[in-house]
Amino acid sequence: MTRTVVVTGGGTGIGHAIATRFAEDGARVIITGRRQSALDRAAADIAGNVEVAHFDATDADAVTAFAAEIGPVDVVVNNAGGNTDFDRTSPNGLGDVADSWRANFESNVLTTVLMTTSLLPRMNGGGTVITIGSIAADKGSGSYGAAKAAIASWNIDLARQLGPRSITANVVAPGYIADTEFFRDVLTDDAKDGMAASAMTRRAGTPQDIAEMVQFLASDRARQITAQTFAVNGGEWPSR
Ligand SMILES: NC(=O)c1ccc[n+]([C@@H]2O[C@H](COP(=O)([O-])OP(=O)(O)OC[C@H]3O[C@@H](n4cnc5c(N)ncnc54)[C@H](OP(=O)(O)O)[C@@H]3O)[C@@H](O)[C@H]2O)c1
Repeated sequence: MTRTVVVTGGGTGIGHAIATRFAEDGARVIITGRRQSALDRAAADIAGNVEVAHFDATDADAVTAFAAEIGPVDVVVNNAGGNTDFDRTSPNGLGDVADSWRANFESNVLTTVLMTTSLLPRMNGGGTVITIGSIAADKGSGSYGAAKAAIASWNIDLARQLGPRSITANVVAPGYIADTEFFRDVLTDDAKDGMAASAMTRRAGTPQDIAEMVQFLASDRARQITAQTFAVNGGEWPSR
């Protein structure tokens, strides 16, 4: 049976790789994001059954309208987000600090919670919700790391709620992943090399590294795995 997979932020970077991986498996893949142009480019790139929907996932009405249109869903990948501080100047006063924290909360937590909440009534048993967290939740990175840590906590409660419906919920937490729009133009080549070298594997992660983990968690091989956070960081931040 053809599965329906929603990938938020599927027009670029990690989301694009995840959408490609599911499309290769023959799924119906719906990619979302704010920029129609990025989504159209991705849909043209990816061979397979790909649909696009452009809206801001922090907008509750837009998310509600999207969910009402798409029918039953098997896999939700909450990938939209990023460190909104890269788009801001350094805070000048407490008002700016408040704005910066709100922006990272909205971009990473609200997008995820609104999308998941709106799609839950439409999810088939045997489905899964996978949310992209970050190594920043453990290493610390201001309001961005705090927002990603909040997602991991929320995921535990989500998994408890969904278990009786045979739906799993997990977080995949990448380390440094190259070749996405995440860092904007902020990082120098030296900084990128330094981040890659800090992994035990001595390389940057790729969007495909994350897509493979997501695909596994959404497969029949992972039905007893839920309420967990999985690091994909080349050993940059070890765990027991
Ligand atoms: N790259 C890394 O090193 C790294 C490391 C750890 C975690 N992550 C996480 O991985 C995820 C994907 O990031 P990426 O590296 O692939 O960067 P990216 O290329 O910037 O992808 C982020 C995507 O999210 C979409 N998006 C952002 N805010 C949105 C909103 N309010 N509504 C709808 N769509 C929104 C963007 O599209 P529009 O701008 O068109 O909306 C974009 O396609 C993010 O959650 C990020 O925090 C990345």
